Amino acid sequence: MSARHPCTGGGGIAARPVTLELNGQHRSLDVEPWTTLLDLLRERLGLTGTKKGCDHGQCGACTVLVDGKRINACLALAVMCDGKRVTTIEGLARGDQLHPMQAAFVSHDAFQCGYCTPGQICSAVGLVAEGRAQGRDDIREQMSGNICRCGAYPNILAAIEEAAPQTRAWLEEGER
Ligand code: FES
Ligand code: FES
Repeated sequence: MSARHPCTGGGGIAARPVTLELNGQHRSLDVEPWTTLLDLLRERLGLTGTKKGCDHGQCGACTVLVDGKRINACLALAVMCDGKRVTTIEGLARGDQLHPMQAAFVSHDAFQCGYCTPGQICSAVGLVAEGRAQGRDDIREQMSGNICRCGAYPNILAAIEEAAPQTRAWLEEGER
């Protein structure tokens, strides 16, 4: 499989085979080398829970987990994720059971329009996995890359603070 890129002067560039464990499922795909992880998820795989805000690493709306660590999917090429475990907002719940961070965002009303919410939740889960979230100041600092234009920060902070212990237990049961 090959495709043309506007920067190559018309030369064909072969798509590369990429294997992912995506939300617990094995996926093998051929991906053009310039495709971002964000575009792969949204445009090709239909996982539109991950949002595109700025598309250049400024807002955090596109945050997903790669091997348990949070990244901005708009800044990562899909081919860089070959062989890795990718978790999006769609992969956090276990069946009908919401992830504790999702449940806390609901119970604390930690959103208004909701556009930033998937990125906020994935970032918060990654934050706990990093062994952070040790108090409000730490959470505020470590979540500073996730912008909420609606200003739902107080409730986001409260949700993360409450869900951090359950998230630690959830991750210990089986990291997703
Ligand atoms: S869309 Fe990736 S950081 Fe804004
Ligand atoms: S809830 Fe609207 S941008 Fe955060």
